[in-house]
Amino acid sequence: MNSATREFEFGSTARSHWELDPDLVFLNHGSFGAVPRELQNRALEVRRRIERNPVEEIWRSGAVAIRGVAEEVAHFVGGRPEGTGFVTNATAAVNAFLDSFPLESGDEVLHFDHGYNAVWQTLLMVAKRRGIIPRKVELPLPCPGSGAVVDAIVSACTAKTRLIVLDQITSPTALRFPVAEIVAAAKSLNIEVLVDGAHAPGMLDRPAAEGDPAGWTGNLHKWPCAIRGCAVLCVRSDFVERIKPPVISHHLDESFAAEFDWQGTFDPTPWLLAGEAIRFMDRFGGWELVRNRNHALATRMQEMLCGRFGVDAISPLDGSMLGCMATIPFPDRLQRGEDGPPPEAMQAELLAKHRVEVPVMDFAGRRHLRISCHVYNDVDDYEKLADAMDAMG
Ligand SMILES: Cc1ncc(COP(=O)(O)O)c(C=O)c1O
Repeated sequence: MNSATREFEFGSTARSHWELDPDLVFLNHGSFGAVPRELQNRALEVRRRIERNPVEEIWRSGAVAIRGVAEEVAHFVGGRPEGTGFVTNATAAVNAFLDSFPLESGDEVLHFDHGYNAVWQTLLMVAKRRGIIPRKVELPLPCPGSGAVVDAIVSACTAKTRLIVLDQITSPTALRFPVAEIVAAAKSLNIEVLVDGAHAPGMLDRPAAEGDPAGWTGNLHKWPCAIRGCAVLCVRSDFVERIKPPVISHHLDESFAAEFDWQGTFDPTPWLLAGEAIRFMDRFGGWELVRNRNHALATRMQEMLCGRFGVDAISPLDGSMLGCMATIPFPDRLQRGEDGPPPEAMQAELLAKHRVEVPVMDFAGRRHLRISCHVYNDVDDYEKLADAMDAMG
């Protein structure tokens, strides 16, 4: 589909397709997504259909249907169909991959300090259980460009490094990391890469194919707006037999697909509807248009907000390190240091006094906020955020 066949318009008019409170300035799609009304109704229908004959819908036809959707999602994210399986979220995928990946006591696993805390905690657990050494690699801010990311991780590799757990889009800083370059550099050092692409589906084109890493995971319940509990793990062909799902049920060693498609009894609705979620966004003129529009909005709003706050951007203003989010330092006058209110208090104040939902976090000793840009956002939302920040004091 192209813009000539666009059914839905971008911006505030698109809000009618979501349940979001009409008076809420919602700038945090990135945390938990937001499910369009139409998809919520479809979920109700699917759940009612399941209740008409749970045995038929969950077992006989359900597992078969899930494979078809997994293949559609594999095509969307750029994974191999036979090496793509559903999990409930990206954290589950990281846990499953690390559980199955061959690591021995003393092996190093590298992760950037911009990584997601739950992933770091998982690495700490693997360290406790198997004696690996997780190491955080620092990437100072502002980041001048992708080359600095490659240099930082490559120079941190040692003879003991076995694996890099690499963000594709970082959570606190919303930076797009050069996955293809890092996977290539790691390969030349005999190091494998697990890509945490939690935010990548719907932000980047075929993100699982970037660099062909050993493993990649992405959430469908963030940017593609799927029902929550919907993510995939994709693995390279040489890992298909080795990587197991988070839960082993009846089909051990039958095939990657058989193992992932049946992980015990649960509500399969989010997985069954993943393809419909992806196709919903086609009605905005297709995913390419959606991605480009949201990326352009994030790039413009990073510059606008840095100007309004009087701060330097943490990454180049040309958008080369952004997806559809941007992280902006708080103005100096609101950088309160350790004695000031915690970030959660400022986030709550923005919501309570100004009806702006935006994540606030401390990173590298400074307070920041992170904006999300999806189809239902427009410039007016970020102007309201800037006005609210002006009013804080
Ligand atoms: C980079 C990154 N990794 C992993 C996750 C975890 O996602 P989930 O809570 O769906 O497992 C997130 C969530 O925001 C994230 O931003």
